[in-house]
Amino acid sequence: MSAERIEEFLGAVKSAFAGNTLIKLKLAGYHGGEVDLKSIDVKKIVAKGVEKFSFTFHYKTRDIIKNQIQPEALGNLRTALKDEFRSAQLATTDFDMSFERNGDKVRLKRSEVAGRETPSTDHNRAKNRPLTETNKPYLHALGITGKDGQVRNDAQDKFRQINKMVEIFAPLIQAIKTDRPRIVDMGAGKGYLDFALYDYLTTTALRPVDMIGVEMRDKLVSDGNATAAQSGFDGLSFAPGTILDYDASGADAVIALHACDTATDDAIFKGISAGASLIAVAPCCHKQIRRQMEAGQPATQLDVLLRHGIFLERQAEMVTDTLRALLLELNGYRTKVFEFVSDAHTPKNNLIVAEKDGRAGRDREALLKQIADVKAMFGVERHYLEGLLGL
Ligand SMILES: C[S@@+](CC[C@H](N)C(=O)[O-])C[C@H]1O[C@@H](n2cnc3c(N)ncnc32)[C@H](O)[C@@H]1O
Repeated sequence: MSAERIEEFLGAVKSAFAGNTLIKLKLAGYHGGEVDLKSIDVKKIVAKGVEKFSFTFHYKTRDIIKNQIQPEALGNLRTALKDEFRSAQLATTDFDMSFERNGDKVRLKRSEVAGRETPSTDHNRAKNRPLTETNKPYLHALGITGKDGQVRNDAQDKFRQINKMVEIFAPLIQAIKTDRPRIVDMGAGKGYLDFALYDYLTTTALRPVDMIGVEMRDKLVSDGNATAAQSGFDGLSFAPGTILDYDASGADAVIALHACDTATDDAIFKGISAGASLIAVAPCCHKQIRRQMEAGQPATQLDVLLRHGIFLERQAEMVTDTLRALLLELNGYRTKVFEFVSDAHTPKNNLIVAEKDGRAGRDREALLKQIADVKAMFGVERHYLEGLLGL
């Protein structure tokens, strides 16, 4: 009986998919074995002319999107409804259908609706992106758009990434309780993030901010300042010099995207020293700790795990960023580490987000012990950030 009900529900999903009336399918009440998975949202997309189901897996601290063609997707949905999710809600333009499973019993409830619009399935649609207006001088100066103000074909990926960055960083900045937050981006490069975030915050979210990109390459600084002036972005500027030499006092947020190796630590140190409410860094290479792991004496049980260069590299990344997160906590920051863009775009996709919180870092002794234990286990003598913090 429950198998029949599951097939009836899947039949409704299938016909909504085929008839372009599927708005959304949500699976909830997860009780399977995947750690931290909460729910799944499913919709239809058309990518490069192929119709697919797009699954967004919502985990506790991150979302993962997977697109699948129909037979594979329906097979996975069948398993999910049978064994893993207790409830599902299907929304279409014509009706809603709910699915509730209690043990072997399945209940379906259908209600008719009217007046809903057919959803867009264009995978490249712009309407949900934070940067809706593309005819902007900075997008042209950065090579994202052509003379016609349209995103160039070869810059679609970059534009998607920039929008993703804005989606992630804007809410973090908006949560800062200051009228006009001062944001410092360390190792700003060409300033993709700075321009996009400044544009979104000031013109769409109507949130005044001051944003400074610190960059040691003079040409990038002068180009960035010229484009900011041309764009009329009064609160955005670029400052020449190194991260460590920059006086970050008064910064409410310190961010750094792929600042090389220990430049990420310089940025974290500047954020902590300034007492910034937010420190958000996407680290780049992890050479400092890798060298120490190679030269030091990690626990012998780890020999087998560190034997292959590629795994040593990944362990070095985990050890480096774990120690960074612990050091941030030690300095009063509630810290999370998550994947912020798909690794199809870049393997450098960890984001450390630290928010100042009076309750964080209270158990100093326990944190210091954890730091010492991690270092001892992996043969790390000293994390560069420890030195900056005078530990
Ligand atoms: C990989 S790029 C990333 C640029 C930009 N954040 C982005 O994600 O598009 C790193 C940038 O950081 C700058 N940089 C590295 N170390 C720095 C330091 N210690 N002080 C200032 N800038 C630095 C480099 O010149 C380079 O432009």
